[in-house]
Amino acid sequence: MRHLLSLEKMERADMEAVFASVPAFKAARLKNDRPLSGQTWAMMFSKASTRTRVSFEVGIHELGGRPLFLNANDIQLGRGEPIQDTARVLGRMVHGIVIRTFSQADVEELAAMAGIPVVNALTDAEHPCQVLTDVYTVQEKLGSISGKVVAFIGDGACNMGVSWIWAAAKLGFELRIAAPKKYQPSAEVVARAGGNIMLTEDLKAAAQGADVLYTDVWVSMGKEAESAQRIADLSGYQINASLLKLAKPGALVMHCLPAYRGKEIDDATFEANAGTIFDQAENRLHVQKAILNWLVG
Ligand code: CP
Ligand code: NVA
Repeated sequence: MRHLLSLEKMERADMEAVFASVPAFKAARLKNDRPLSGQTWAMMFSKASTRTRVSFEVGIHELGGRPLFLNANDIQLGRGEPIQDTARVLGRMVHGIVIRTFSQADVEELAAMAGIPVVNALTDAEHPCQVLTDVYTVQEKLGSISGKVVAFIGDGACNMGVSWIWAAAKLGFELRIAAPKKYQPSAEVVARAGGNIMLTEDLKAAAQGADVLYTDVWVSMGKEAESAQRIADLSGYQINASLLKLAKPGALVMHCLPAYRGKEIDDATFEANAGTIFDQAENRLHVQKAILNWLVG
């Protein structure tokens, strides 16, 4: 049984198998194979979503399946039914589960108990579907990610920073994370991942000669109570024209979205790079179709 629970747990060969099948899904959206034909996939979400929800709903449909969106607050899970019971009920009725929630342990428990494929659609710990899409987008635009330099500017300790660490370690590119100490990923994760990872407080050093400048929100979902403190602490860790000047000529500016202009990126830089950023958003659909196809293959 295949799952996509984290990039930490995903083999490099499986990432490459997913990437290899994306062009076919992208080239023939409505004429592709229908590996989910007759299937129903539950999408159990405890956090807000635009891209992930829409891309999975459309993708499951285009692969011949039916998405069943379950807002966690509308099912008994929201009133305290244990995740292991929810898993065993869904496992008897649907063919796969896409889950967005807080705790990574809940996703692992769901996968252990449901007996059907489970996809992590974002937890506090990782956002594997996003980073697989981002790596695919870099490959599409720069030819390859191997040997390239990705500079992640902002909250490096969040789910995105951690998924980038595992991608860099497994796929062989350099990752530089520029963040205040408090917002750097744990040294334990970096050591466990291995690879070429630089942690720094100096965003200029991170951006110097980089092939990609990447950012994410300063206030991730679930951290709203820390909002004012985070905005104060991360102020300055912004992608803007002066930072971009330090990167390699033609460097990509990427953002997983949603974007908060004037915070992690300024408006002019966002709009000047909107072509790349919205190609990246669109690729969620194509890459996730490849992921679903791999899961049931
Ligand atoms: N990037 C991303 O996952 O967006 P959503 O939160 O809108 O799904
Ligand atoms: N780090 C962000 C990613 C949003 C797609 C969050 O968890 O809210």
